[in-house]
Amino acid sequence: MIISANFKTYKNRKETKDYLMKLEENISKSSQQIIIFPPITSLRESTENIIVGTQNCYPVQNGAFTGEIGLSQLDEFHIKTILIGHSERRTVLNENQIDISSKFDFFSKEDFKIIYCIGETLETRQKGETELFKFLESQFIGINLEYKNIIIAYEPIWAIGTGITPTPEEINSTLKWIKYFTKRDVIYGGSVKTSNIEDILSLEYCDGVLVGSASLNVDDFSEMIQIADNLETTK
Ligand code: PGA
Repeated sequence: MIISANFKTYKNRKETKDYLMKLEENISKSSQQIIIFPPITSLRESTENIIVGTQNCYPVQNGAFTGEIGLSQLDEFHIKTILIGHSERRTVLNENQIDISSKFDFFSKEDFKIIYCIGETLETRQKGETELFKFLESQFIGINLEYKNIIIAYEPIWAIGTGITPTPEEINSTLKWIKYFTKRDVIYGGSVKTSNIEDILSLEYCDGVLVGSASLNVDDFSEMIQIADNLETTK
């Protein structure tokens, strides 16, 4: 399964380095695909069992783009994994579907592993599944789903950082729709923690998780990976 962590704007370089060393030690025997997205200043090489990806990058090699980073800066650390379409970038940083799809286009041509995030507001969710699926479909406009190296992260905006999650049935039903629509691996994100990860990973259509706040503690995140390992044998 895919067990990934989004540090957002938490942790400095030293904290990230210490975290990765400890995590590597804790999970060296794990069979999960582990991906960590630290802040850009904390980017570093992947370790033996942990892929380091970037939360963002401007879709250029380099150039006059003040405040951004490009491929050259990622190349230094051999980063080949990126998060695209996270709801905080869509809503707080105002990235629209055109920005997002051109970013997708650029990084797919560079053979990046892309974790592509989609998710609805509570208002959309309350309109029922037909409206929900119509909305989620709109977040695939301009996205080439023929590209194979992509994982879809379903993250309802109302579940991110709130402690609230949809019911397991709701999650499974949405993941199922996404999986049929995209034919790709599908993971869930939004208030995943040690106490609910087992139920979420046990869902038929769930290929993994993207964890925010609860990943910041290395022991908790290691425990989540251990839970995934334990489940693997039974799934
Ligand atoms: P959360 O964040 O686990 O803190 O809800 C998830 C995410 O934004 O990827």
